[in-house]
Amino acid sequence: MSPLERTVLTTAGFLVGSALAADESARRASEAVVERTRQIDEQRRFIERIVDSLPVGLYVVDREYRVHAWNRKRETGLQGVLREEALGRTIFEILRRQPADMLRQEFDDVFRTGTMTQFEMPSNAAGELRTYRVSKIPMRINDAAVTHVITIGEDITEWKRAHERVAEAQRLAALGQLSAGVMHEINNPLATIAACAESLALQLTERDVPAPLRDAIAEYTHIIDHEVHRSKRIVDGLLDFSRPRGDTREPVDPNEVVEHTLFLLKHHPRFKHVKVEASLDADIEPPVYGSREQLAQVLMALLLNASDAMDGTGRVVIRSRNDAADGGVVIEVEDQGRGIAGSELGRLFEPFYTTKSPGRGTGLGLSICYGIVADHGGRIDVDSQLGVGSTFRVHLPAGQAKPTTDGQGEEKTT
Ligand SMILES: Nc1ncnc2c1ncn2[C@@H]1O[C@H](COP(=O)(O)OP(=O)(O)OP(=O)(O)O)[C@@H](O)[C@H]1O
Ligand SMILES: [Mg+2]
Repeated sequence: MSPLERTVLTTAGFLVGSALAADESARRASEAVVERTRQIDEQRRFIERIVDSLPVGLYVVDREYRVHAWNRKRETGLQGVLREEALGRTIFEILRRQPADMLRQEFDDVFRTGTMTQFEMPSNAAGELRTYRVSKIPMRINDAAVTHVITIGEDITEWKRAHERVAEAQRLAALGQLSAGVMHEINNPLATIAACAESLALQLTERDVPAPLRDAIAEYTHIIDHEVHRSKRIVDGLLDFSRPRGDTREPVDPNEVVEHTLFLLKHHPRFKHVKVEASLDADIEPPVYGSREQLAQVLMALLLNASDAMDGTGRVVIRSRNDAADGGVVIEVEDQGRGIAGSELGRLFEPFYTTKSPGRGTGLGLSICYGIVADHGGRIDVDSQLGVGSTFRVHLPAGQAKPTTDGQGEEKTT
C-alpha cells in the first residue's frame, strides 16, 4: 500500500470512528434524558400517591381560581367530583353549593395576606352531619407572590366530640366540687332547723298551750319538718353527683342489673302505660366491677326520663351488649319521646337543669347518673332527634375498675 493510500485509509477510519463515537454519545445522552424523564415521572407519581393517601380532602387553585390539583379524597362522598372533571375548571363551577362570593373571599384573603387561614365548617357531604376543619394555605412557585392556594378539609367530628366530652367532664367536676362545698354548708343549718322544729313539737306536748295556738304551731312544725326532709333529699342528690357513695364494689352482671331495675319499676305509677322491651345480649361479657345498687339507680333515672319524655305512654327499649369499639359493655335506653334539642344537649348533666315543672323534676337525675357512671370509670352518651326520640348509652369498662371509695373521700376524679 502506497503512503497516500495509507493516509486515505487512516483518515477514513478516523472519520468513521468519530462518527460512531458521536453517535454513541448522542445515544447515551438521549438515554440519560429518557432515564431522567422516567425518574421525574416516578417522583411525580410518588408525590401524587402521597397526596391521594392523605385522609384529608385537598385541592389547589391558582389566582384565576382554576383547579390544579384534586386528590382522591375529594372524589368521594356525596359531593365528590372526579379529578378529570375538576382539573382546569374554576372552583366555583365545581363547589356550586357554596356561595361563590364567600368562596372567592376566602381565597382572596390568603392571596392578599400570604398567611394561612383556618375555620370549622359543618357539612352533610358524607351523608350525615360532620364537622370539618378547613385550612387554606398559601403556596409560592418562585418564592415571590402567592401563586396558588392549597385547601385542606379534615374531618374533625370525632376529635371535636372527644374534646367536648373532656370539657364537659371538667365543667361537671368543677360543679361537683362546688356542690360538695354548698351541700356541706347547708347540711348543718338543716340539721339545726330540724332539731328546733322537733323541740317545739315536744314542748307543745309538755306545756299547757291554748288549743288554737297549739294547732297552728303543730301545723307549722309539720311543714318545717316536711320541707327540711325535701331539702335533705336534694342535698343527698347533690352528694350523689359530687361524690357518689362508693357502695361495695363487686363483680356485677349487667343483665342482672337491668332485670333488677325492671323489677323495681314494674309497679311504678309512671310506668303504667309504658311498654318496656328488654333486649339483653346473653353473651355479654360479665362482670362489670361496680355497685349493683348504684347502677340500678342510673338505669332507673334513665327509664323514668324516657317515660316522662313520652308523657307516660309509649315504648322504651333497654338493651345490653358488648362494646365492640371500646371494650366493656353498653346498656342503652331508647325512647320514642320528644327528643332533645342540640342546644339542650350540653346542659343535660348539670345539676338542677330541668325542663319539667317544679315538683315533677329536680334536675338531679342525670347529674347523679353522670357522677355514678364516671365513678365506675365509664361514660354516658346521648343520641337524640327532636320529635323522634332519644337513646342514652351507658358505657362501662369491663373488669376491675377504680378502688372503692367511702363516698366521703378527699378526691373525686371524673
Ligand atoms: N329521654 C329524654 N328525652 C327527652 N329529654 C330528656 C330525656 N332525659 C332527660 N331529658 C331532659 O333533661 C332534663 C334533665 O334530666 P334529669 O333527669 O337530670 O332531671 P329531671 O328528669 O328534669 O328531674 P329529676 O330526674 O331530678 O326528677 C330533663 O328535664 C329533660 O328536659
Ligand atoms: Mg330525671
